[in-house]
Amino acid sequence: GKTPLTDRFNRFHSYLRISLTEKCNLRCSYCMPLEGVPLSPANHILTAAEIGRLTSVFAQNGVDKVRLTGGEPTMRKDLVDIISQIGSVPGIVQIGMTSNGVALSGKLEKLRNSGLSKLNISIDTLHEAKFDILARRPGFKQVWKTIDRAEDMFDRLKLNCVVMRQVNLDEVTDFVELTRNRNLDIRFIEFMPFGGNNYSMNKFVPYKEMLGLIIERFGDIEKLQDHPNDTSKAYKVNGFEGQFGFITSMSEHFCATCNRVRVTADGNLKVCLHGEAEVSLRDAMRSGIDDKGLENIIAQAVYKKKARHAGIKNLVNLTNRPMILIAHLKPNV
Ligand code: GTP
Ligand code: 5AD
Ligand code: SF4
Repeated sequence: GKTPLTDRFNRFHSYLRISLTEKCNLRCSYCMPLEGVPLSPANHILTAAEIGRLTSVFAQNGVDKVRLTGGEPTMRKDLVDIISQIGSVPGIVQIGMTSNGVALSGKLEKLRNSGLSKLNISIDTLHEAKFDILARRPGFKQVWKTIDRAEDMFDRLKLNCVVMRQVNLDEVTDFVELTRNRNLDIRFIEFMPFGGNNYSMNKFVPYKEMLGLIIERFGDIEKLQDHPNDTSKAYKVNGFEGQFGFITSMSEHFCATCNRVRVTADGNLKVCLHGEAEVSLRDAMRSGIDDKGLENIIAQAVYKKKARHAGIKNLVNLTNRPMILIAHLKPNV
């Protein structure tokens, strides 16, 4: 079929985010509880072949970019196979991955050669002691080794930094300093509430406050052009090699230009990161549905997508599933 995945608000969905696993080798406090999260039975997780098939159905309906997320995607032993399968789908022009970088430095070459073209690494601090407290598992040195190696291998490496008051707000300007001589894109993410992440408004920092600190230290800031579907507002310090940006999911949501759909590791379609509605593509596939049938399920779910997520007030009261499980449990509101 050639039906583009358009919703009632004329948003065209061309960016597919696929979670490959619910597992993670870190325990970031903003993401999940220390004890971890209840995992789906192994046979509920999509196989590489199922991921390949879904990608091709999405691609036939206008998706051209795929991002692999998790959990931590490197926990999948068949990661290379998955990337190769996605890469062989006609119409897919970009494959990105978002990783914590802990177990990645030795795999970069292989992944690059199998078709991975974009890489985002999550790193919230420049200090090992703070990393150990935040991530609650070791890995600081490995992450920075991955960053150093990946910097020369990928277009422009992005670093994702979730900013929290009294945790790492004092490091924002030091992160920006990194862009003086390095071609990095550092994106400061507003802290969002998810089930099990111990959310507190006291830790929330609106991006304007971060921007203020950066202007105070570096003065000469330039606003860069954003692409319509970017999650981030991009800036640079004049004369610096890299750039930085803000992902303002809380203070200024970007729902109006959202072009994303996601599939959870256990095969549910989730049309909004914060939305509750989910439909099982895995069950549909395993009951023998044909591609046309899959396409119909997907198109209908996209069509029902809401105009925007709840917004800051409702979001903080809402207990969405932990980021790591994004939408595999029903939200326990
Ligand atoms: P790029 O293609 O490199 O821009 O990737 P990305 O920013 O879409 O993906 P990444 O996995 O690096 O996600 C970084 C942050 O973007 C996440 O922590 C979220 O805060 C935000 N984000 C990603 N997808 C969505 C979405 O569908 N809705 C909302 N509200 N935020 C999202
Ligand atoms: N608020 C903001 N960002 C979060 N991430 C995980 N949990 C949260 C949260 N509660 C980030 C990770 C990763 C990205 C995909 O989502 O740091 O970079
Ligand atoms: Fe793992 Fe990413 Fe969650 Fe941290 S934020 S625990 S690295 S999935």
